[in-house]
Amino acid sequence: MKIGPVRAHRRICPNPPLKAAAIAVPWTARARGHNLALMKHIAVLTSGGDAPGMNAAIRAVTRSALDEGMTVSGVLQGWQGLVDGQFRQLSARDVGGIIQVGGTFLGSARSAEFPEESGRSKALRNLAQRGIDGVVVIGGNGSQAGAYMLSQLGVHVVGIASTIDNDLFGTDITIGCDTAINVTLEAIDRLRTTGSSHNRAFLVETMGRDCGYLAIMAGLAGGAEVISIPEFEVSAGEIAQRLRAAFERGKTHAIVVIAEGVKENAAKILAYFDADKQRVGFELRATTLGHVVRGAPPSAFDRLLATRLGVNAVKALSNGETGVLVGYQKNEVTRTPLADIVGRTKPIDTELVELARILAK
Ligand code: F6P
Repeated sequence: MKIGPVRAHRRICPNPPLKAAAIAVPWTARARGHNLALMKHIAVLTSGGDAPGMNAAIRAVTRSALDEGMTVSGVLQGWQGLVDGQFRQLSARDVGGIIQVGGTFLGSARSAEFPEESGRSKALRNLAQRGIDGVVVIGGNGSQAGAYMLSQLGVHVVGIASTIDNDLFGTDITIGCDTAINVTLEAIDRLRTTGSSHNRAFLVETMGRDCGYLAIMAGLAGGAEVISIPEFEVSAGEIAQRLRAAFERGKTHAIVVIAEGVKENAAKILAYFDADKQRVGFELRATTLGHVVRGAPPSAFDRLLATRLGVNAVKALSNGETGVLVGYQKNEVTRTPLADIVGRTKPIDTELVELARILAK
């Protein structure tokens, strides 16, 4: 049976609107003749959804900054901690024993106050009072929009790309994404095993409210029969059709992977199947992974990526660079002006979607 084309719902992933301050600052302070020796005290914060490898990045930032003779302060609870003045000086020992731990020991919080002028003023005052001249921001799109705002106010800021969603411009891969793919994949593999025993289809819902990278990569690696993501959604009717085709081809199990942000979500798909049970062949069960994929210990890849990006971010600051995102492109650590990446979301490679369709035989 011919498998129909993927129904495309191209969606632009929403980013927090950038209300940048009016003061324009060139992205390299070196160009302004900045005195590099002034970078004596830096702060590091994690913001937005936590991602496995954030701790490894904090460790790398702290230890490489200490190596360069800088003082390092950790900001607790992300942007909100910057506004509230929650700082903690970090020694090499403080960041010991965390490289293998998921999450962020500094904490992370969304702040409604920081984007407001009053919040930003408090943040600037807190930095000035402590003599902090550089800030490293570890996080995804929203966090880097905040980093850009801060850099626009004249603070030296360098971002590090970290989100399980891997939807940041200026990097091919973000810290945390590899681990989240692997956790999703492990679930898929286990469900396939039990699915085979019972002639069942399993639906696995993984994270990704706006972006389907995680779902598509885990689905491809796990040999899923159907993958539905916000950018290219597959309707319940079409899922049923593809599973029926798989059943007719003699499959003893089938896997459907969906990202949490699809309109036709697990509940709707299950309801459809309930009504259409006899014709589909398989019965369908659903497993929602949710935050399980975010809380895992980081993979070797994420630890190494975090380590390289963390060290490079400190190098950027000590070189007098500001307003840049440290990412990883074409097998190299790169720095991209935040001005070029904020307000944009990296789209899904359509070839991956096609690949998934071709391979689901
Ligand atoms: O951005 C990372 C992410 O885990 C998304 O995949 C998910 O949609 C969202 O965060 C969940 O956010 P929260 O933890 O606030 O529910």
